[in-house]
Amino acid sequence: RRNMAYRIAVITLSDKGAAGERRDESGPLIRRITEEQGFEVVSAEILPDGIEPLKGRLIEICDQYTADLILTTGGTGFSERDLTPEATLEAAERLAPGISEAMRLESLKITKRAMLSRGVSVIRKRTLIINLPGSPKAVKENLECILPTLSHGLGILC
Ligand code: MTE
Repeated sequence: RRNMAYRIAVITLSDKGAAGERRDESGPLIRRITEEQGFEVVSAEILPDGIEPLKGRLIEICDQYTADLILTTGGTGFSERDLTPEATLEAAERLAPGISEAMRLESLKITKRAMLSRGVSVIRKRTLIINLPGSPKAVKENLECILPTLSHGLGILC
């Protein structure tokens, strides 16, 4: 299948974004970059940080199979409310660590702070879930790293 056929759900993790106190730039950026590459963005939403809201939403999307790929942004760092990897692991059936390894490897060439992203990549049923860091700069750099290879993986999974 070409990129065009793959459905992406975008989830931004941000307490301030969910409360309407901060404009989400990273979610719309993910939409723009992936749509330019021919993917279809079927949903984009903002959830508060924390395990339960994200875990529940990931399970819902995967079990109803409304997206082939879920891209999250934010909540991968070291602050107390950064719980995106933990929520993602709770929804996971299988791990796909190479994707996050590749993102950190490439990102480390740009900034040593890339080692501070705790993001994970996993599979639940027929949906791939990838955690991206929160800043628009990091989103762009990480998508550039993984997008060229993703459709091969999605072709086997979906
Ligand atoms: N990766 C890339 N490619 N570019 C970046 O600027 N920022 C890092 C890292 N990964 C960055 C990056 C920083 S400063 C942090 S704290 C972590 O991602 C976690 O970001 P998050 O807490 O917004 O998810």
